[in-house]
Amino acid sequence: MTRKRFLTLGIESSCDDTAVSILEGPSRVLSSLISSQLDLHAPYGGVVPELASRDHQERILPLVFSAIEEAGVTEPRRELDLIGVTAGPGLMGSLLVGVITAKALAQAWGLPLLGVNHLEGHLFANVIHSPGLAPPFLTLLVSGGHTEVILVRSFGDYEILGCTRDDAAGEAYDKLAKLLGLGYPGGPAIDRLAGRGNPEAFTLPVPMADTPRVEFSFSGLKTAALTLLRHLEKEGALPVEDLCASFQKAVVEALLIKVDLAVRLTGVSKVALSGGVAANSGLRGAFLARKDWQVFLPPAQLCTDNGAMVAAAAYNGFWRGRRSGLELSPDPALPLLSD
Ligand code: KG4
Ligand code: ZN
Repeated sequence: MTRKRFLTLGIESSCDDTAVSILEGPSRVLSSLISSQLDLHAPYGGVVPELASRDHQERILPLVFSAIEEAGVTEPRRELDLIGVTAGPGLMGSLLVGVITAKALAQAWGLPLLGVNHLEGHLFANVIHSPGLAPPFLTLLVSGGHTEVILVRSFGDYEILGCTRDDAAGEAYDKLAKLLGLGYPGGPAIDRLAGRGNPEAFTLPVPMADTPRVEFSFSGLKTAALTLLRHLEKEGALPVEDLCASFQKAVVEALLIKVDLAVRLTGVSKVALSGGVAANSGLRGAFLARKDWQVFLPPAQLCTDNGAMVAAAAYNGFWRGRRSGLELSPDPALPLLSD
């Protein structure tokens, strides 16, 4: 007799993407659908929370049923085994939509429910891509809201070695892009332009380069880029590609220096990238060039917010014995706690 496969429905709605996935076992993605709200927020140059939650609310159930269909699941009540949902951190109104949907479906289908931390989700993108990845390892989590180096001692046992003192790396990208009129989110646009520019054209400060701690700061770099931008505009010549390339070089260097420090402090040289900024070509190239580290890089579609990473974190948590009750509540500032 063949053992029944274990299917997890993963739901992610913490910010501006509604994402749903069906995962088989720890890492086999049967379907992963994303409804992006980029066009909705683009005119405002950033995410408008009220619009985000309304859009999640409209799209989430059709997306759940499309993901179920695409995975070849015909009887969710019988075939699914677990529902995982992002419970925080994120925007309250956005999180509420995912959590309420997950609770209602868990109740209707009689399935166990597990609320997961969005950051834990991001690091599990690496497990999907590299199922053999075993702790201990370090992960650099870089997104629009986070810049953190996390030591994964084992799954469910995390230590945040350091984080940003102000802006997240992705936020710095988005803010510079806004100043350059490149739209939202600006990371991919700056990355593309940087690829055509000269990174040595301008010298921008590498934040926190000399401190002995794992910490980041990107607001000063953003201000330095703005000052340079205004200066170049006044001179009547704005080599946007060179500016983007020089900015990207400083960001990548700031991140690399601190991961290097974390490797030396912990003695762990297995390093995984996660979060939206992990899609950045400069950062990926710099990581791959480190022959002294064992590097794990999920593909771009697993780096940005998606439902599969949430399902993978929920699957792992479930088998560690974690469960959530129907009283599960989203927490916009949910800390990454160990079991
Ligand atoms: O993880 P994510 O999808 O959402 C958050 O949890 O924040 O990350 C989105 C962030 C945005 O700030 C976006 O500009 C940035 O990731 N991003 C990039 C690139 N692709 C996305 N930043 C730099 N280069 C990229 N290629
Ligand atoms: Zn994210």
